[in-house]
Order: sequence, then structure tokens, then C-alpha cells
Amino acid sequence: MAKEAGVSITSASLVLNNRPMRVSKKKRAAILDAAKQLNYVPNQTARSLATNRSMLLALIVPDIQNLFFASLAKSLEDSVSKHGYTLIIANSDDSAVEEHNILQRLEARGIDGLFLVPSLESVADSKGLHKDVSRLYFPVVLGDRLVDEQWCDAVGSDNFMGGELAARFFIAQGHRKIACISGTNGSGNMNARKSGFVSGLEKAGLQLDPSLDCDGDYHFSSGYRQADHIIDQGATAVFCGNDLMALGFIKRLNERQLKCPQDCSVIGYDDVAGCLGLESELTTIDQDINSVALACSDCMMSRLEQLASDDHGEDKKARGKKKSQLWLKQPRQYLVQPKLVENATVYTF
Ligand code: RIB
Repeated sequence: MAKEAGVSITSASLVLNNRPMRVSKKKRAAILDAAKQLNYVPNQTARSLATNRSMLLALIVPDIQNLFFASLAKSLEDSVSKHGYTLIIANSDDSAVEEHNILQRLEARGIDGLFLVPSLESVADSKGLHKDVSRLYFPVVLGDRLVDEQWCDAVGSDNFMGGELAARFFIAQGHRKIACISGTNGSGNMNARKSGFVSGLEKAGLQLDPSLDCDGDYHFSSGYRQADHIIDQGATAVFCGNDLMALGFIKRLNERQLKCPQDCSVIGYDDVAGCLGLESELTTIDQDINSVALACSDCMMSRLEQLASDDHGEDKKARGKKKSQLWLKQPRQYLVQPKLVENATVYTF
């Protein structure tokens, strides 16, 4: 390459690695032209040694098959790639043990930063995750699911508001016998959505009937499984904690020759039915995934810039760990506002 451009290897390397150096415009153009002609691709491993950065970020999601997390991963990858980073995506299957094992493997790969949607087990009890994150030497940003103690940078959605929007919508439609399919472990996003939903009902003088307060697990099957009971109780509206459960409920409703919303109005959560071409079928709460992903990326880039500005050539891990300890004492938390979307018609109360 350097020979092609008629320059020294050092000059070619400095220009191709965007390192500061005095070189004529003619020589710089010759180096870049030779790189293009030779389809030059920098050796990232060698570059990592020179720059102390791998340009690798990672995202751990709890259920890679759930369209919500697939959408979050895509938005996040779109954002970080603009900064030259590659995003590694891993799946914890909502297991705190698997989350821990993945964290160890990623740390060994020398990633520069981690985005994490905590497993349901870690949301319920975050002591193990807090211990793992506290010993890391790179920035960590929690996305979507925040842990109660707020010891880490995090970006979430206002789930309480989302539940309240659903209640207001049903009440405005005149429903009084209303069901809810929510989570089982009483913590995290689903718990906040249900609390907001109950609050919205109570503000209208209604209570959530305990016989219509049903457990779900974010999967299609749990919405399908709860449908017969809710239909037989005579409910005319049901709020589901995510779109997959809502679609499962509607499938069973239709199998019983009943229609949504004519026979039973349904509200989901996540606004991902559009990925399946079903946006006209489902009223839902849109969490604005793109805004959550962009806020996560901005938070991460800000931390990485702080690390880079402090890089005076000392050991990456020691410097990163010292910085991380500081960040964990002063975490940044952001909440994105959801909105209700009725079959693609947006309502903001
Ligand atoms: O559909 C999966 C759910 O889990 C989403 O609502 C998201 O908020 C996550 O918590």
C-alpha cells in the first residue's frame, strides 16, 4: 500500500488510522486512493492494540425471539454503527445465570461497552447483576427494564403512564367490565404497567375485578391461555402487558367466532404488530423504541468519550474500572414517554 502511494509505511498507517500527522494533501489523497484501489480493510485487532479500543459494543436481550427486542436491537445497531462500532447481540433467555455467563464471555472479548436489558430474574433481584457490573471496566447502559435501586445508567419507558393510557381509553369507550393480563413476578415493567392501569380505573371510580386480574409471561401462549376465562366472565375489554399476549388473546377470541373490538376490545403494548403486518388489527401502547435506543446510544457514546479523553496510555482496564466506579455512583436515568396507538391512529390524552 505504502509503496503504491510512494510514501513510508508509517505515513500510510497514520493516515489510515486517522492519527494526527503533517502530510501534504497530495500524499494523503495518494494513500486513500491506493487503499481504495487495493480494497484495503484495516486489521481491527491490530488497530485495537494501537488505539486501546476494540470498537465492539454488546447488547444482551432476555428473549431474542420477541419482536420488541429485535426492534430495539435494530435501532441500537443503526445508531452505534454511525459511530464506527459493531454491535454483538446475545440472548439471556431471561436467566440471571446465563446473563452472568454471557457477561464473562463478552468481557473476555474486550468489548468497549455493554447495553443490557436485564433478565426478569435480575429485575426481581439485582444483587448479582450489580456485583457483576461493579467489577467491569467499560460503560454499561441498562435499556427498557430498569432495576429499582437505580445504580446504573439506564433508559426506560414510563410504564405507569402506559398502563394509565390504556385504562383511560377503555373508560372513554364506555367499558366497565375490564380485564388485565400482566406479569407474574410483581416487579419491573409489567408491574408498573398494571399499577398505572389500576390507577386509571380508580380515577374513574372503577376497580380491577380480581377474577379478571390474570397472569401472563410476555409470550403469545399466555394471552391465548387466559382468553376463555376472560371471555366466559363477560369482560368487554382486556389490557395485555405486551402485543404478543394481545395477539394470543385475539386468536382464541376469533376461534370462538368472536371479534375484536366488536365483541371484546383489546389493547397490547410495544407496537410491534406492524412487523407482522397486523398494525390495523391491534390498538397498543407505543414505547417509542427508536427514542429508547437513541437515548441508550447517546448515553454510551458520552461515557466512551469521557474514557477516551482520559486516555493517556495507561492500562485500559484500570482506567475503565476507576471511571466506572464513579459513574455507578452518579448514574444517568432517562424515561421515554409512551403513546397509545389505535389501529395506527395515535391518541395522546
Ligand atoms: O414484549 C416484551 C416486553 O418486555 C416489552 O414490553 C418490553 O418492555 C420488555 O420489558
